[in-house]
Amino acid sequence: MTSTFQALRGTRDILPGEVERWQLVERTTREVFERYGFREIRTPVIEATRLFHRTVGEATDIVRKEMYTLQAGDESITLRPENTAPVVRAFVEHSLHRTVAAGYPERYYYLGPMFRHERPQKGRQRQFHQLGAEVLGSPDPLVDAETLEMLWTFLDALEVQDRELRINSVGDAACRPAYREALREWLAPRLPSLCADCQRRYVENPLRVLDCKVEADRALLRDAPRPLDHLCSACAEHFRAVQGALAGYEIPHTVDRGIVRGLDYYQRTVFEVVSKGLGSQDSLLGGGRYDGLVEELGGPPVPGFGFALGIERLLLVLPESKGKPARPDLAIVALGEEGFRASIALARRLRKAGVSVLAPVAERPMGAQLKRAERAAARYALFVGETELREGKLGFKDLDTGEQVRVTEQEALDRARGRHGE
Ligand code: HAM
Repeated sequence: MTSTFQALRGTRDILPGEVERWQLVERTTREVFERYGFREIRTPVIEATRLFHRTVGEATDIVRKEMYTLQAGDESITLRPENTAPVVRAFVEHSLHRTVAAGYPERYYYLGPMFRHERPQKGRQRQFHQLGAEVLGSPDPLVDAETLEMLWTFLDALEVQDRELRINSVGDAACRPAYREALREWLAPRLPSLCADCQRRYVENPLRVLDCKVEADRALLRDAPRPLDHLCSACAEHFRAVQGALAGYEIPHTVDRGIVRGLDYYQRTVFEVVSKGLGSQDSLLGGGRYDGLVEELGGPPVPGFGFALGIERLLLVLPESKGKPARPDLAIVALGEEGFRASIALARRLRKAGVSVLAPVAERPMGAQLKRAERAAARYALFVGETELREGKLGFKDLDTGEQVRVTEQEALDRARGRHGE
């Protein structure tokens, strides 16, 4: 049977059976990030289109080709393609800089859907989900290293083995102009061999040429001057300090001069974590420092640092054994009409006491009920029928071991909660 409607290309339903892996990731995010002082922030999925033009950048692929933008009344609104700009917008709008104290930046995390109109493939969707963290209020290299250390703890907790941290520095407002000129000079004679997009990028923002996806262009650009070779002394010192702190945390990393990132707001540290298990879309997460962004959105000069990780991609490298569906504690097997009638109130009492109960909503043969209990992987079966009610003892079966005993309702409850013998 084919249904009349299907989920849109590049979007997916997350069904029970798979959703448990998502819940594990979400739970682990909250547990780990909150240990480091991060608190959750939730912003709308729609924002003024201008916000992303201003921050992500006019010349980026995201803004030029990938945004879901619509006109609603007299407003142009966009489904967020990323969440750093919205978080910074909220930070400025609510004057959250007032909570920052020297040496104590504010830390936020988020989980949620993002939207980019890209060509869907493995690990790349149009509605995808990010978990991310942003630290606002400190230029200190320790922020960069400590946040990466948290990320490492998080990936350890989920037992993601195959991962490699690559870092780079793209300089700041002081060294960027000279670098941009050097790059323009190098590009000028090669321009005719580059794609039309690159020719446009050359005019609008030559740094964007470096994230061209065209294979021939990438080969030609391999020898282009890189930001790392044009850092001013303050940026070079910052980068050294970040690496030193990472070494102190014993976090293995490589310096990759080729990382430029596809968004305009970065300054100084940028990084990606890649995983071979992901194939061509090998970037599991990315981020960096964005010290000018708060000011760009009308706030005071507050430095920022953060990252976002694609949850769909994380699930591709998460061990199979992680996030197994929860088992019902107990399946009621109701025998006969009287047993069925009694099972309704019994289920209610057990659930109120905190036990998860599988119970039929209509009289069913015993075999069918047991089959259902097995399929749901219930831990115990609780038999209730005329005899059991008369004697005040219910049949209680451990479905893993097959062991069967007769117990009172209270004993059944204790066993189902794992408090037997306490
Ligand atoms: P980004 O590199 O554009 O950075 O995205 C971060 C991560 O989101 C990627 O590494 C990838 O795992 C995932 N991702 C991106 N696009 C897709 C897609 N179409 N399908 C599936 N996954 C995708 C940012 O978004 C920045 N806001 C990160 C950041 C936070 N920088 C500072 N703070």
